[in-house]
Amino acid sequence: MASPLLACGLPLDCFFLSGNWKPETPFLKNAPYAADKPKGGGNIPLIVWDQSYSVNVKRCDEQHQKLLSLLNGLHQAMRVGQGRAVIAPLVQELDAYTDTHFKAEEALMEQASYPALAAHRGQHQTFIAQVQKFKQSLATQAGAPTIEVASFLMDWLSKHIKQTDRQYASHLNAKGIH
Ligand SMILES: [Fe+2]
Repeated sequence: MASPLLACGLPLDCFFLSGNWKPETPFLKNAPYAADKPKGGGNIPLIVWDQSYSVNVKRCDEQHQKLLSLLNGLHQAMRVGQGRAVIAPLVQELDAYTDTHFKAEEALMEQASYPALAAHRGQHQTFIAQVQKFKQSLATQAGAPTIEVASFLMDWLSKHIKQTDRQYASHLNAKGIH
């Protein structure tokens, strides 16, 4: 599957996976972010939540926004050369928050007798397993998996929310869950 696109329209692979990523990468500095680029530089979100991410369930949308904000926080830290400083607490927070989020989301799907719950839960388990691997890397390896975490999160969040989570929207809404 093609690499997800950055807000600037370029594929994620352009910088995360190139091995050449640096905070001062010119195209990042000059990327044509339109709506979200503050005047005078500052924080440039990697993903901006919009209606294309909405699952039409308020609690889930809010929790997805929080997950995107964790990724954007990591991206911002990387832009200013602080990726290694924030990666350990970020992975810890990701571990804790996804536990909260996945439990809440699965409870709603269970409440609605959502037929694809088992497969959906399987995707959550895959995510949890990957986060555990990142935790092990942080504990045992010299190099922090900063780029790997950012790349994984960018890819997983955009695909899972847009392709898998959004599939439960109409079913949950039909059961009165909004
Ligand atoms: Fe999900």
